[in-house]
This record gives sequence, C-alpha cells and structure tokens, in this order.
Amino acid sequence: MRSAPTPPLDLDSDADLLRMIQTDDPAEMEALFHSAHAVRRRHYGDGVYFRGLIEFTNYCKNDCYYCGIRRSNAKLTRYRLSHAQILACCRQGDALGYRTFVLQGGEDPHCTDAWMESVVRDIRAEFPRHAITLSLGERSRASYERLFRAGADRYLLRHETADETHYRRLHPASMCLRARKQCLFALREIGYQVGAGFMVGSPFQTATELLRDLRFLQALQPQMVGIGPFIPQADTPFGRYPGGTLTMTLKMVALSRLLLPAALIPATTALGTIAPDGRERGLLAGANVVMPNLSPQRVRKQYALYDNKICMGDEAAECRTCLEARIRRYGLAPDLSRGDCAGWRSDVRREAAAGAPA
Ligand code: SAM
Ligand code: FES
Repeated sequence: MRSAPTPPLDLDSDADLLRMIQTDDPAEMEALFHSAHAVRRRHYGDGVYFRGLIEFTNYCKNDCYYCGIRRSNAKLTRYRLSHAQILACCRQGDALGYRTFVLQGGEDPHCTDAWMESVVRDIRAEFPRHAITLSLGERSRASYERLFRAGADRYLLRHETADETHYRRLHPASMCLRARKQCLFALREIGYQVGAGFMVGSPFQTATELLRDLRFLQALQPQMVGIGPFIPQADTPFGRYPGGTLTMTLKMVALSRLLLPAALIPATTALGTIAPDGRERGLLAGANVVMPNLSPQRVRKQYALYDNKICMGDEAAECRTCLEARIRRYGLAPDLSRGDCAGWRSDVRREAAAGAPA
C-alpha cells in the first residue's frame, strides 16, 4: 500500500508552523496545499458539500470595528426576513437539492428565543432529514439548548482571533473573547456540530496571532472551520485598512486541514471576492464546502459585511449552476448530501443530549 504524502512540517512545532505561516517560497506553499488536498481526499474524497445560506437579518446590536452590518453603520438599509420568507428560502433550497440550510444573521434583538425556536421547529417539521445550521452570534446556554431541542444541528461562531489583546483591538469593550470561547464550548457540550474560525489579515494581526488561532482550533476540535480574508468595508472604522491576501488565507485553510483532518472547511465567499478563482483554489488547498446564497435577491446587497461581495445579483439557481461548473472544472464533485462531519453520528448525540442511552 502506498503511504499518504507526509506533511512537510512538524505540526507539533510552533517554530515550524510559524515558518510556514511566514514563508513566501512557492515550492513550499505548493507542497503545503498538496498535502492538505491529499488529507481532505483521504477523509472526503473529491466531494464538495453544498450549504444553502440564508442571510435572514442584517440588524445587529454589536459594533465590531470590521463589520459592515455593525449597529453604528447608519448608511445601511436594514432588513429582517419573516418566518414565512425564511421557510420559502428553505423550500427553494430544497428544490435546488440542498440538504443543509444555514441561517445566519447579525445579533438581532428581535430574534428572541421563542421566535427562533418557532422558525427552527417549522423547518425541522417540514425537512426532517435536512441539517439546520445556525449562525446567530453569542446567546445564552439556555438559548442554544432550546434551539438544539427544536431541531438545530450545527452552529457557526467564528472566534475571530484567539488572542485577547488582538480581540480587544477589533471589538468594542462590550465584547470579550472569554465570552465567545465560553459560547463555543457550551455549544459543543450541548451536542451541536460546532464551527469556529477567523479572518485572515484583520488589522493588527501578525503571524503570532495566526499561530494562536491554529492552536485554539486544535484545542477546541470543532467540526467546522470558517476562514476567510478580512475585506475592508468603507463605512466601518477599518474601512481604509488593507485586506487579507489570497496566499495567506490559502495557507491558513491548508494548515487547518492538516491540524483537523476531518473538519468541514468552506471555501468562503470572501475568498471568492478577493480573487476570481479564490474559492476553487481554496478547494484545492484543503477546503471541502461551498455556501451558495439562498437569500432573496432584493436583500442581498444589504448583507454587506464587506465591499464588493460577489453573487449579489445572482438568483439562487444561478449560484448553484455556477458553483457546480467551477467545482467540476477542477476535477472535484458536487455533493448534495447533508454532509455531516466525517465520523459524526447526530442521532447518538441527540439521544445523549436528551439523557437517553446512546
Ligand atoms: N452574528 C453572527 C456572528 O457573530 O457569528 C454571524 C454574522 S457575522 C457578520 C459573520 C462573520 O462575518 C463574522 O464571524 C466575521 O468573521 C465575518 N466578517 C464580518 N466582517 C467582515 C469583513 N469586513 N471581512 C471579512 N469577513 C467579515
Ligand atoms: Fe454584528 Fe459584530 S457587528 S456581530
């Protein structure tokens, strides 16, 4: 039997990881992407999972300095999809073949536990076998438990940066890294498939912060890892800062794949925004998920986290066709199944969470 390619570095060594984060040697980077792609193939083959993304509210009570939907951005027209509109997006996604819905939004005080619970319950009732992913920011443990019981399976909450000092420079004093980490550990305990992650090239980030991010991911062992470049948004305090680069983002995707071989890692829209083939290159550097947009076209422009976001004018069906073609062009295979993390048994986790014998 042929042995799998060995990563060209010692993953336990901080010095090795730092060297790889800092290298601009093309051969070394190529070898890294190659190893990450081989590891991803070992766990997931050539399949690329599709997630239908519903950006259902751009109201947010927070004021992150980098984010275009922050509450202080008075230039933004705010919207919130109704319960019925979210269900309609799910139906459209189902018709397109998607078996995972991702409900993402700002931290919108209108989205109370009772309201979110009724949305999740109704999606679960209509689509019993689909995965429901939430990305609603920081909530209480009781809230996460309630939404899990209502039928949510997965939760995305990027930690943004694992360094306390850096976190404070990206966020107002009302937010803290400790609270964010507590949320992530609570979500994991409850039984969600958990996604953490960070922006690459956010203001004041250095190789040391990136190393911390990787080590934090290793400690948390999330099932999903969301990594995308920071892209400035003109109406935010960081609107004139430089954005993250394609190369650095690809390196972080690849290193995350090597450190967490079975993780679900999206080739993010932000990656596709900074380079026309950014998502494809992400898929060849260890990523294995894409998240086509299912939000109604009329609200897409308002979910303006950063400038020049792609796919603003496309219909949901166009996004699917476009992504499928891009994936096939690189010899990969669109996979429309639920796409749980390799080795994950949601039935067992749910029974365990409910106190029944697993
Ligand atoms: N409110 C939820 C939360 O906090 O997780 C979900 C929405 S939040 C806008 C989704 C992600 O967008 C954040 O975790 C952040 O990493 C990313 N984001 C925000 N502003 C960005 C920017 N300027 N460039 C790239 N990514 C950005
Ligand atoms: Fe909404 Fe940061 S501005 S979570």
